Amino acid sequence: MNADGRTRLNQTPEWTALAKHHEEFADTHLRDLFAANPGRGSGYTLQVGDLFIDYSKHLVTDETLRLLRELAAATDVFGLRDAMFRGEKINTTENRAVLHTALRAPRDAVVEVDGENVVPGVHAVLDKMADFAERVRSGEWTGHTGRRIRNVVNVGIGGSDLGPAMAYEVLRAFTDRELTVRFVSNVDGADLHEATRDLDPAETLFIIASKTFTTIETVTNATSARTWLLDALGDEAAVAKHFVALSTNAEKVAEFGIDTANMFEFWDWVGGRYSYDSAIGLSLMIAIGPDRFREMLDGFRIVDEHFRTAPAESNVPLLLGLLGIWYGNFHDAQSHAVLPYSHYLSKFTAYLQQLDMESNGKYVGRDGRAVEWQTGPVVWGTPGTNGQHAYYQLIHQGTKLIPADFIGFAEPVAELSDELKAQHDLLMANFFAQTQALAFGKTPEEVRAEGVPDELVAHKTFKGNHPTTTILARELTPSVLGQLVALYEHKVFVQGAVWNIDSFDQWGVELGKVLAKRVEPALTEGAEVPGLDASTTSLVAKYRELRGR
Ligand code: F6P
Repeated sequence: MNADGRTRLNQTPEWTALAKHHEEFADTHLRDLFAANPGRGSGYTLQVGDLFIDYSKHLVTDETLRLLRELAAATDVFGLRDAMFRGEKINTTENRAVLHTALRAPRDAVVEVDGENVVPGVHAVLDKMADFAERVRSGEWTGHTGRRIRNVVNVGIGGSDLGPAMAYEVLRAFTDRELTVRFVSNVDGADLHEATRDLDPAETLFIIASKTFTTIETVTNATSARTWLLDALGDEAAVAKHFVALSTNAEKVAEFGIDTANMFEFWDWVGGRYSYDSAIGLSLMIAIGPDRFREMLDGFRIVDEHFRTAPAESNVPLLLGLLGIWYGNFHDAQSHAVLPYSHYLSKFTAYLQQLDMESNGKYVGRDGRAVEWQTGPVVWGTPGTNGQHAYYQLIHQGTKLIPADFIGFAEPVAELSDELKAQHDLLMANFFAQTQALAFGKTPEEVRAEGVPDELVAHKTFKGNHPTTTILARELTPSVLGQLVALYEHKVFVQGAVWNIDSFDQWGVELGKVLAKRVEPALTEGAEVPGLDASTTSLVAKYRELRGR
């Protein structure tokens, strides 16, 4: 029994039923499942918004899906979902509401936190962002010397970087190509150096994005950016025209020297990794314009509404979350690949890494006890077709089970030349071929029938039975991006709910931060760090020697 009165997940009858089902399932091949059910290809599909979801190539039957839904019911996933949408403080270790869904709520919606409707505040900030974005885009907002802003540099890390940086890449075809937009996150000075070395300070706007405004990487880079600007413009007053802040912490913003009139606010009920449709998206809004940004929010909302209202049988985030549980908890899969067949989605998986791994990389349950089941997977992947010539070998013929999501689009982006558009069918032929090969493989008989010599038959055999989800949309638009992100947000939610962990804190990143602060004086001044372990002490000594200190 859990401290919260719930039966331990792995002791529930629903869990036991799934474990038994898994044993019975062991020798089933996707080839058999398709042979047994000719309607499977079209039957195991769902639609949410513009996203067509094919889950036919999963190691599941109707019975598996029923048992998984029973597990979701037993763990009250929908109860926690409703509590989230209602603004209850489901982030229990930080005593916070979890309301990224309020960031895309319509103007007339009412979502209360501590008795206060937060929606008017959300729209007030969106309107302020839109006004500012338009002024930068039109040239009305100028730099200190009166020159037009041509460069926008977002300085932030984690959730204050990955979301806008990813979305900027995804929506490049919708951006103002006259603007240079860059993202600096790493405390390695090389990041800021490379981002600014060819920019004119008089034409550069820095957006300092930090929920807490205490993150050492961001404050350090922001300070260096200010020095870079003031070295060129020579007047402290220039900061007001070249720096704006996105934060929940007005006091720290003012302390840094940014006028709070130039601050775009968000709230403690927005988690960092769930924040890019808040003020954290300002750089993106400047790049694509407020209308496109609002289209993206509309896309988020489509999936929010679907997740909130669709029955379990057709609820896509629920399905995707449960499929991950089937593989992670019953098939011992350790990782999950996300493989977009769109070059514009090159940063999508990196974004999902924080969303998923910072949310569900936990071994302590909501009740404070260690879990006895696997939680979040390692999420990884890069766009196809590049990965096909790198690591797909391991997915096809390695010893690990790696469930994968394939994301593709029917149309290439409109601005490509006709010749480049014509390449799209080849891209998508690969997209479809890969999931086919992964599912069905190639039998030894098929290999032999091709005249392959006996000694090579095993090498050229593909066992198949590798599960994939195919996510297909007509085209990549701001709305579709919003739909995709919301889909993964809610999938991660479902899994955290089943595993009974708090998906909204991130205590696991704290220790490294504290230790870095302690070790830094040892590097710079050779200071003694009390209690420093022998390995790190000797590494620090080596570092100092290499630096000639
Ligand atoms: O890595 C920990 C973390 O707190 C993330 O959750 C967050 O997105 C990131 O640091 C940046 O934090 P902030 O926006 O407060 O600078």
